[in-house]
Amino acid sequence: MKILVTGGAGYIGSHTCVELLNCGHQPVVIDNFCNSLPESINRVQQITGKKLPLYRGDIRDGALLDKIFKEHKIDCVIHFAGLKAVGESCVKPIEYYDNNIGGTLSLVNAMKRNGCKKIVFSSSATVYGTPEKLPLTEDCKTGGTTNPYGTSKLFQEKILSDIYAADNGWTVILLRYFNPIGAHKSGLIGEDPHGIPNNLSPYIAKVAIGELPEVRVFGNDYPTKDGTGVRDYIHVVDLAQGHVAAIEKVNAAGVYVYNLGTGTGYSVLDVINAFSAACGKPIPYTVVQRRDGDIAECYADASKAERELGWKAKLGLGDMCSSLWHWQQLNPRGYNK
Ligand code: NAD
Ligand code: UD1
Repeated sequence: MKILVTGGAGYIGSHTCVELLNCGHQPVVIDNFCNSLPESINRVQQITGKKLPLYRGDIRDGALLDKIFKEHKIDCVIHFAGLKAVGESCVKPIEYYDNNIGGTLSLVNAMKRNGCKKIVFSSSATVYGTPEKLPLTEDCKTGGTTNPYGTSKLFQEKILSDIYAADNGWTVILLRYFNPIGAHKSGLIGEDPHGIPNNLSPYIAKVAIGELPEVRVFGNDYPTKDGTGVRDYIHVVDLAQGHVAAIEKVNAAGVYVYNLGTGTGYSVLDVINAFSAACGKPIPYTVVQRRDGDIAECYADASKAERELGWKAKLGLGDMCSSLWHWQQLNPRGYNK
């Protein structure tokens, strides 16, 4: 299949391009590099030994999208492009809604103009707000998001669902990611956050290589097994393979929602310990106050994806930490070499 991958140079997009190429698909990437570098696409080509077309530009540029649709017979779109930093979204709501909602509207308009009606969308477990029950199933209520990033995901899910309601020829696949971490086993591609990371695993990796002094554990008084927050960490390569399963298995029109997680929750201390085992040294940490907006626990019931897509996460926390450590060691400055 020929697949337009928006945001394909980013963390999850680049890993997905590798899996698509490995399965014989033909990804075409559009990225404006607001949170990535073209080097990630060079690395994707290095890993797979295959070339892929790359367009530098913004998905809000309808003329550019039309050009891409005219130059390639696109069968479906995997839509990663968007801004994703929760804290920043509270400070820059206009930019977040403009990029995320505006970007999606521009994209679906171009798809409509060019007769492409199949889209896979990068959603997030954040749409469940505070979980009503655990593990989270796809029919749990959504809403109660506490930041513009999360709200933009909720709105984008709704926009895409409304498009199907108005035209039953569309296939809309909403993938709700839990916490993707880790890197490709080659160590050539991985997450490359700018500045001090907000998320736990890249922060731990920076402590392990000595760039940051210690991990700050945000609270140890949650009602969890050791008091620290529990999340469903999923290896980014498993997640990428979930996209391949979605485009291959879902062929009938409709709206489909899948949780992509492992179904297992790990605490902050579990992740610190697993990373420490992977890198062979202790990771210093101190417990500080809870972070605003955090929930105690979040993990998926991922059985629907297994049943319907034949997809199941295979890699464990040890693989996630060792691959991240490998990437971090080979690329201490990320793609900036
Ligand atoms: P990322 O920032 O690494 O990748 C996003 C890519 O989109 C970047 O390369 C960026 O340059 C590009 N981009 C952003 N706005 C664009 C625009 N208007 N036009 C063209 N390109 C644009 O992020 P990621 O971690 O790979 O996440 C991919 C998607 O998955 C995002 O939509 C994100 O919200 C979603 N998601 C991520 C996580 C996570 O933990 N990483 C969890 C849930 C959902
Ligand atoms: C965060 C976002 C979420 C987004 C997800 C994926 C927030 C509030 N939520 O999820 O919307 O979909 O990333 O990118 O930002 N922790 C520490 N110390 C740290 C960093 C994190 O103790 O330095 C803890 C957190 O309190 C949490 C766990 O580690 O319990 C995971 O945090 P993080 O990696 O930021 O992911 P989420 O908060 O689950």
